[in-house]
Amino acid sequence: MVAVSIYLVAVAVLLTVAYLKTLYRRRRTNEPPIPKGHFIWGNGADFSKHAVKYLHATQKKLGDIFTIRLLHQHLTVVMDPHSYEAFVKEPNFDFDPIQKQVNHNVFSFALMDSKKMLKEAGKKVRGTHLHKGMEQYSKYLNATHIGVTSSEGFGPATEWRTDGLRQFNSKTLFVSMFYTIFGKGKSTDVFEPLTVYKNFDLFHKYFNYLWLGMPVNLFPKALKALSVLCQQPGSAELLSRDDVSEYIRFSTQFMLDHGQTEKDIIGHNLVYLHVNYNTFRMAFWAVFYLMQHKEALNALREEIQEVVDTKISNGEVNEDGEVNLTLEDIDGMALLDSNTKETLRMCSGVFMVRAITADTTFEEGGKKYNLRQGDKIAMYPPTIHQDPEIFENPESYKHDRFVDAKFYKYGKEIRNPVLSFGSLCPGKKYAISQGKWFLLSLVYKFDFELCEGETTELDVKYYGHEILPPTNDVQMRYRMRENTHTLAFTS
Ligand code: HEM
Repeated sequence: MVAVSIYLVAVAVLLTVAYLKTLYRRRRTNEPPIPKGHFIWGNGADFSKHAVKYLHATQKKLGDIFTIRLLHQHLTVVMDPHSYEAFVKEPNFDFDPIQKQVNHNVFSFALMDSKKMLKEAGKKVRGTHLHKGMEQYSKYLNATHIGVTSSEGFGPATEWRTDGLRQFNSKTLFVSMFYTIFGKGKSTDVFEPLTVYKNFDLFHKYFNYLWLGMPVNLFPKALKALSVLCQQPGSAELLSRDDVSEYIRFSTQFMLDHGQTEKDIIGHNLVYLHVNYNTFRMAFWAVFYLMQHKEALNALREEIQEVVDTKISNGEVNEDGEVNLTLEDIDGMALLDSNTKETLRMCSGVFMVRAITADTTFEEGGKKYNLRQGDKIAMYPPTIHQDPEIFENPESYKHDRFVDAKFYKYGKEIRNPVLSFGSLCPGKKYAISQGKWFLLSLVYKFDFELCEGETTELDVKYYGHEILPPTNDVQMRYRMRENTHTLAFTS
């Protein structure tokens, strides 16, 4: 009760400040235009109802750059995809305060020497580390394939079974990702994949409230889930595991060297899980769209079968009879690549936000705009991904949209048409490779289809999250296909 009262007082103070700010803030010469908004909320209500629709409508009225107000925060939005390169190069646009806000408000810790840590840790998911992680991950995934087809009371693996798609992915993809990140602990650990999945999923529902600064104590369900998620092995135990990922090994050691506490390390482990969770969300949509579009599934299966058959006829089979596939093989599959990009285009909710650290002049469409220190600036990839001038019928899934294709805005080719990873995500290649491997092994090893009448939609309440979740899970039928080989990732 006391917490609620303090919170309400804080909100009242904030609203007053916001009100005064709007009264006294005036647009200065050469600043971007400002759309009309509510005297307290600013443009917050329209924005949170459907961010993409609102920003597209405002772009039509005001052009490719404008400044909206979300309560007390002014946010300049750059809509022109050709400005991406200038946006990411501008040294006065800083991501550091944004990641600090997530770490502090949601996971209750601050990272010491964060820029160095993220730069160095980011190397641990690339190059040879990526290969090692993929090898581990593909082994775990093969084991889960056996797990989900050997449930009691059923016949052979080739018999049809029914499950929710998210449930199925949690038992396969999430379990494999989790063990690849943290290694395998004791069977009695609370920190085991399915317990973590269940509680993380619940905790995530409150993410936006926490991120905005509301205390977790206001949400008993989130608090309970968090208390389970925090029951992790200590840093010494994690570091002693042979199979812990290089990312966690490096980051844990770095934090210990900088005098950070066990509680900080637990918070960081949850942030890392949070960024990896995007791969899980992406995989949901990749499988869902294939189930909705049979022609896409058949074409992809043909592409994969051809690669596997060539490998077998070339004798690229290991001593256990598994077919070896490399990263080059995965990257060489044009339809798999297009499916992945199309999925990302459809389901991204990401906001690329930066704090403006000094008054800055930014050029947009040949005109110079003055931007104020203390405001925020953003590019919003979903508005690019859903722009009908760039992508024909953007609301439709087209599995081969990205095969040998170029995309244009204002008659000029766009260098980066899919911006789901922003410019800074160090896990881009890692997430894409894991997602592609998940999909290719599923399509090769399993028959799967949506149960009669099952459907779902992107949950637009979550715009701002890197990948949007579905409004509901869908029931699917699946069975293992006959006469298939086990696939093994090899470096
Ligand atoms: C589908 C999966 C993923 C998506 C869509 C995604 C997207 C993003 C986006 C949009 C950002 C903010 C970047 C910006 O504003 O320029 C980001 C940051 C970050 N991502 Fe990812 N990510 C994914 C998976 C991963 C994975 C698997 C990892 C870890 C290996 C990872 C690690 C990070 C980290 C550490 C940051 C913060 C970077 C910094 O503070 O400099 N992400 N991600």
